[in-house]
Amino acid sequence: MKNLTIAVDGPAGSGKSTISKKIARELDIIYIDTGAMYRALTLKLLKNNINIHDKKELYKILQSTSIDFRNNHIFLDGKNVDEEIRDNQISTNVSDVAKIKEVREKLVEIQRDIARNKSVIMDGRDIGSFVLPNANYKFYITASIEERGYRRYKELKGKGYNVNLDAIIEEIRERDRIDSTREFSPLVKCADAIEIDTTDKTIEEVVVHILEIVNRGGK
Ligand code: DC
Repeated sequence: MKNLTIAVDGPAGSGKSTISKKIARELDIIYIDTGAMYRALTLKLLKNNINIHDKKELYKILQSTSIDFRNNHIFLDGKNVDEEIRDNQISTNVSDVAKIKEVREKLVEIQRDIARNKSVIMDGRDIGSFVLPNANYKFYITASIEERGYRRYKELKGKGYNVNLDAIIEEIRERDRIDSTREFSPLVKCADAIEIDTTDKTIEEVVVHILEIVNRGGK
């Protein structure tokens, strides 16, 4: 059977990771969370106190860092960092790391390598536009900023954090701004992507909708 490739893009908190994970399970294909890769690299840079504007230092770190997935878990230099990369300090710094050209070149190469000759669903910001421009299906998942902020607020509250909804909405607004205005492969909705607004939809409704589209072979 020919490989199936599904690209899923959209802003922070749109639900794309949860949706993509479920679709991967339903279709028995590989799920690749590219945001987790940018987060893992950000973790390494913060831990090593790297000045991201020092190109020489950054290049050295990029060359000596390994980021990969094993059974849907993210590994940084051989260590599982699933939990660490979700820390708020990573969320507030990752967009600045993700806008660096050299960082993107390194991670996009790994992403394309993983997808080579495999059936995958990959989510991120530039998957349909840049990483896998020939994907069989492209989806752009979005939701209102208030809803995205509220989802993140609920998630953090659930983990026991003392958080403020307005502050979270502002953080997301700032990430959206950096992600969609950066010079190299910014977040855009491709002309050939199917847009799904999840503001008033449940995860299950969106999953069913996407599976219907994929199973019938198009729009
Ligand atoms: O989806 P996320 O919130 O885990 O993504 C973390 C950051 O990484 C986000 O601010 C944008 C960046 N990112 C990117 O620039 N390109 C991707 N393909 C995926 C994520």
